[in-house]
Amino acid sequence: MSDAIVAEDLVKTFGDFRAVNGVSFSVDSGEIFGFLGPNGAGKTTTVRMLTGVLEPDSGKVQLHGYDLLRQRDVAKRRIGVVPELANAYLDLTALQNITFTAELYGLAGREVKHRAEELLDMFGLLDRRHDKVATFSKGMTQRVILAMSLINEPQTLFLDEPTGGLDVQSSRLIHRIIRELNEEGTTVFITTHNIAEANALCDRVAIINEGEIAAVDSPESLKATFESSRSIEVSFTEQLADFPDMEGIIRTERRGDKWRIYTRKPHDSLMQLTGFVREHPELQIETVNTRGPDLEEVFVRLTGGEM
Ligand SMILES: Nc1ncnc2c1ncn2[C@@H]1O[C@H](COP(=O)(O)OP(=O)(O)OP(=O)(O)O)[C@@H](O)[C@H]1O
Ligand SMILES: [Mg+2]
Repeated sequence: MSDAIVAEDLVKTFGDFRAVNGVSFSVDSGEIFGFLGPNGAGKTTTVRMLTGVLEPDSGKVQLHGYDLLRQRDVAKRRIGVVPELANAYLDLTALQNITFTAELYGLAGREVKHRAEELLDMFGLLDRRHDKVATFSKGMTQRVILAMSLINEPQTLFLDEPTGGLDVQSSRLIHRIIRELNEEGTTVFITTHNIAEANALCDRVAIINEGEIAAVDSPESLKATFESSRSIEVSFTEQLADFPDMEGIIRTERRGDKWRIYTRKPHDSLMQLTGFVREHPELQIETVNTRGPDLEEVFVRLTGGEM
């Protein structure tokens, strides 16, 4: 399989702050590749370097075999980009936004209008095509922006947090379309800080933290890491000075009025917890939640750091 994206030792410094510190990875053609990291990790800075918006201090980018710095135009023609905080032109209609984007790519004619309408149909916006984007909801606007990014039939689509701030339904629609595009052969590079999104969509995921890649792996392998970091969060009517020793518990942390219990077996730990309060009638459980693995915990495990 050929490489859609190759990033080689990318570095970007703002003033004396190194936002991206030697990032390397490659994405196969046909993959959905997730770029997962917390706020400020360097995701957007990396995407901007991969899409030719921002010049790296050092390092190289290849898109479908073309060097982005030396063969910029050919390389860029192969990609579509949905930037973070992208916006459509509010005073233009949905259709005009897409045909205008087409003009920027040097595409014109009847074909373009046909394709634009096809895209709007795919995004469920065909009957709103003559309405100004100013009258659209956030989710609808995001769909227009996605349609705009597809007008040049990109081989690789870059999406920077495409579902940020969208409700479940809008996010699902976008996920469905990403999958469909991918099934038709489009390579997808998506940044997110949402572990569930990365798990649901991606063939492989790179985890970026403080400008460096902490891991690149399939969600399955990452999940194996996540599995051992499930936890129970519990609070009692009385404050406990120490949490009692229980079998199978990896570690406990006090967080405000709650205890976070990391465990390999949430079920067994809950049973033990029930037993514990039964033996201490003065104590009652006030709240209890089981928590799936989350990014924060994965980071603690992968980077060995504290949050
Ligand atoms: N133009 C800039 N000037 C100065 N600092 C910048 C600039 N762009 C980004 N940074 C800094 O680089 C770091 C990484 O920012 P970046 O936008 O890449 O993070 P991110 O992973 O996309 O975060 P988020 O999830 O919040 O979008 C941040 O500390 C940010 O403040
Ligand atoms: Mg960002």
